[in-house]
Amino acid sequence: MRTIKKITCIGAGYVGGPTMSVVAQRCPEIEVTIVDSNTARIAAWNDSDLSNLPVYEPGLDEVVAEARGRNLFFSADVDKAIEEADMIFISVNTPTKTYGKGKGQAADLKFIELCARQIAAVATSDKIVVEKSTLPVRTAEALKSILHNTGNDVKFHILSNPEFLAEGTAVHDLQNPDRVLIGGEDDDAIQALVDIYSHWVPREKIITTNLWSSELSKLVANAFLAQRVSSINAISELCEVTGADVNEVSRAIGMDSRIGPKFLKASVGFGGSCFQKDILNLVYIARTYNLHAVADYWEQVILLNDHQKVRFAENIIKTLYNTVNGKKIAFLGWAFKKDTNDTRESAAIYVADHLLNEEAEVVVYDPKVSAEQIYKDLDYLGTRSPEDNRRLVTIATDPYEAMRDAHAIAVLTEWDEFMSYDWAKIKAGMKKPSFVFDGRKLLNRKQLEELGFVYYAIGE
Ligand code: NAD
Ligand code: UGA
Repeated sequence: MRTIKKITCIGAGYVGGPTMSVVAQRCPEIEVTIVDSNTARIAAWNDSDLSNLPVYEPGLDEVVAEARGRNLFFSADVDKAIEEADMIFISVNTPTKTYGKGKGQAADLKFIELCARQIAAVATSDKIVVEKSTLPVRTAEALKSILHNTGNDVKFHILSNPEFLAEGTAVHDLQNPDRVLIGGEDDDAIQALVDIYSHWVPREKIITTNLWSSELSKLVANAFLAQRVSSINAISELCEVTGADVNEVSRAIGMDSRIGPKFLKASVGFGGSCFQKDILNLVYIARTYNLHAVADYWEQVILLNDHQKVRFAENIIKTLYNTVNGKKIAFLGWAFKKDTNDTRESAAIYVADHLLNEEAEVVVYDPKVSAEQIYKDLDYLGTRSPEDNRRLVTIATDPYEAMRDAHAIAVLTEWDEFMSYDWAKIKAGMKKPSFVFDGRKLLNRKQLEELGFVYYAIGE
C-alpha cells in the first residue's frame, strides 16, 4: 500500500488552484505544490495580498491563507515538482482546436501531451498520474503510451479523476462534492487517491470505475447540464409569444421529482469555458464513430444556445426602433455567471459583438472583471480592429456612471448587487423612454415599471 507524501499539480488555473488548495487544507500531512508555466499567474498565487489571487472564488482566500506556506506551495519550477512528487495531477487547459483536423470541435490535447512528455523526461521514481483536466474518452491510452515508452524503469499508473466544481461555488463544491469519480486500472493507485479524498468526503460518495467510463462521464455530465439550460431557453422563446412565464413553467415542471428544480433558469445563454467545448468534443467523438444521429442530437444544444444570444441582441435592436447606431447601451455584467471573474465564452461577449456591428456604444460595468479582460475578449473575436473596440466600448468602474445617459440597460450577469441599486436614481439619469433588457430575469418587473422603465425579460 503506498502512502502519498507529496502531490504536484500541473496547471494553476480555475481548477488546479482551488482544487489543490482544498486538498492541502484538508490533508495537512501532504505537501502540495501547484506549478504553472505562466510565471505571472504563479506570482499572483503567491501575492501576500489575497485580493490579488488570479482566481476569484468566494472563500478561496481563506483556504489559501490557511494552507499556503504550511503544506501548499505555488511554483514555476515544473521539473523539480515533477521529480519530487508521488502523485501528479494534470490540470491544464484542453480548449477546442482552432486548427487542423477537428478544428472547431475536437479538444486540443497539445498541453496534455506536453505535460506527459515532461513527466516522462524528468521522472526518476514511480508516479501516479491523475487526469484532472476534462478529456476525450480514451485519452488515458495516449498518456500511457507516452509514459510507458520512456526507456527508463520508472512505473506510471494513470487515473482519471474529473472535476465537477462549478465556478462561483468552487470552494463549497470541493468541500461538499455530490460525488468524487475515480477511474483506473490499478487497485493500489485507485486506493491511494481514495485515501486522499477520504480525509473529508464520505466514502459512499467516492465512486471508482474504469478509465473510459470515468472520462466519458465527465463529458456526459456537462452535456446533460447544458442540455437542461438549452431546453428551458427554448421554452423561454415560446413563453414570450404565448403569454406564459418561463419561471412559472420551471417551477411547475421542477416540482416533479423526476425532473427536479435545479438548472432550469432561463438566461441569455450559457457561457463558461466548458459546456460548449465539452459538447463539441462529444459531438466530434460521436462523428468519429459515424454516430451521426447522436452527434446531431447533442449539437442542437449548442445551436439553440447561439440562437438565444442572437435573439437577445436582436430584440434590443428591434425594440430601439431598429437602430442602435450611436446609442449608449449599458451592460450590467460581463462574467459568464455571478461570483466569478471568469469571462470565457460569456454570452455578454457575443451580445456586445452583435450590437457593436450595428455601431452601438456599449458601456460595461462588472464588479469583478477588469477592463483589460473585456477588451481582450472582444479583440479575440477578430470582428473589428482593437481601435474600433476601444472607440465603441467604454468600461465603467461605477455602475451609476455606466447607466447615465444610456438609452437602454442590458443585464447579462446575475450579480446580486444589481438588485439593490437605486433604480429611481438610474431612471432619472437615463434617456427616455428608458429600456431594460433583462437577460437573467433578475430585476423586479413591478418596481421598474412603476418607475417608468420599459422592461423586457427573457421568457416573459
Ligand atoms: P485554465 O486555463 O484556467 O488553467 C490551465 C493552466 O494550465 C494555465 O494557467 C496554463 O498556463 C497551465 N498550463 C498549460 N500547459 C502547461 C504546461 N505544459 N506546463 C505548466 N502549466 C501549463 O483552465 P481551467 O479552467 O483550470 O481548466 C483546466 C481543465 O479542467 C480543463 O480541461 C477544463 O475542461 C477542466 N474543468 C474546468 C472547470 C472550470 O470550472 N473551469 C471545471 C471542471 C473541469
Ligand atoms: C459547469 C458545471 O456545472 C460543473 O459541474 C463543471 O465542473 C464545469 O461546468 C466544468 O466542467 O467546467 P460552470 O460552467 O462553472 O460549471 O457553471 P454553471 O453553474 O454550470 O453555469 C454554466 C452556465 O450556464 C452559466 O453561464 C450559467 O449562467 C448558465 N446557467 C446555469 C443558466 O443559464 N441557467 C441555469 O439554470 C444554470
